[in-house]
Amino acid sequence: MDFKLEKRDTRSKARAGRIITEHGEIKTPIFMPVGTQGTVKAVSQRILKDEIKAQIILSNTYHLYLRPGTDILEQAGGLHKFMSWDLPILTDSGGFQVYSLTELRKLKSDGVEFRSHLDGSIHYFTPQKVIEIQRSIGSDIIMPLDECTPYPCEYDYAKKSTELTSKWAILNKEAFESTKPLYGHSQALFGIIQGSVYKDLREISAKDLLKLDFDGYAIGGLAVGEPPEVMYDLVDFTTDFMPENKPRYLMGVGRPENILEAIERGVDMFDCVMPTRNARNAYLFTSKGVVSMRNAAYKDDFSPLDPECDCYTCKNFSKSYLRHLFNAKEILALELSSIHNLTFYLNLVKTAREKILDGSFVEWKNGIVEVLSTNVQ
Ligand code: GUN
Ligand code: ZN
Repeated sequence: MDFKLEKRDTRSKARAGRIITEHGEIKTPIFMPVGTQGTVKAVSQRILKDEIKAQIILSNTYHLYLRPGTDILEQAGGLHKFMSWDLPILTDSGGFQVYSLTELRKLKSDGVEFRSHLDGSIHYFTPQKVIEIQRSIGSDIIMPLDECTPYPCEYDYAKKSTELTSKWAILNKEAFESTKPLYGHSQALFGIIQGSVYKDLREISAKDLLKLDFDGYAIGGLAVGEPPEVMYDLVDFTTDFMPENKPRYLMGVGRPENILEAIERGVDMFDCVMPTRNARNAYLFTSKGVVSMRNAAYKDDFSPLDPECDCYTCKNFSKSYLRHLFNAKEILALELSSIHNLTFYLNLVKTAREKILDGSFVEWKNGIVEVLSTNVQ
């Protein structure tokens, strides 16, 4: 993997660049649709690539390990072949899902024991183990096992947790270096900076990880319930310690305005379930704010959802029809809504990139953030 920084905004920390992988180039800033179980919910791979123009998707080590399992993934020749997706894939390590989805997890100094949310069976993840699983998956970008601190989090706990993530980072890196890709394409390994809301811990975490020379760096442990201003301040603080010449990824973020604020503070990559999850709940993002497709006001509104959107849904269907589909519990509602919300997110980061390249990012961002945060229906 390679990263080329194309432009640095002169009036903010925003950047435009390209990540080059053997499955293709990713123009940054980028949003990665979430395909937890090897599918972006309700959207086929053809639509994702040709209509939505996704450049990379995210999948999950935890889920794929439990089901279908690494034996099936290896027999299939890796996740790209298994799901017929020939563009880049990033996999999260399970370091977040284990904490958010499983009960009875036991954190130990060399890993985490947890009970499957599917059948209650007991499993043990170590840094070595999650690297091996991600070798079986064959993702282009591998994430290391970390601990995502909750919010709020006492300083003493955050300190111990950050030290554990740093210790595991070494083991992740060793496991990565002592194993090889299985499918003929290379894989990159990122580091994840933790430290909760404490700047001194964020700084230590960043410095610990920088010594290990990862291919890119993520900011973890944010968007876990802290106020947006706290998150922005920590992102701004942390990106100052992150290398200029490597991609920067803010994990699990976020609302459209969160993404724009983080781009302004020097982040290149994002993922979030919000566009797909909200779509399935009839919450749709538009250039005028969020709308609920269950709203009775749309009963006889035959105009498109967002006249400024060029997605398949907005080009072909009315709000009245979308509302009808949700009302009638038709599964097409989920697909059309997911297509629109993902297109909205990808258009947002694409426009951000264009504005960074032409030097007008900050004014544009301020205007969009104002509209998005004032018009919530
Ligand atoms: N997704 C969102 N936040 C995090 C985090 O802190 N760690 C990991 N591994 N994944 C995440
Ligand atoms: Zn649309």
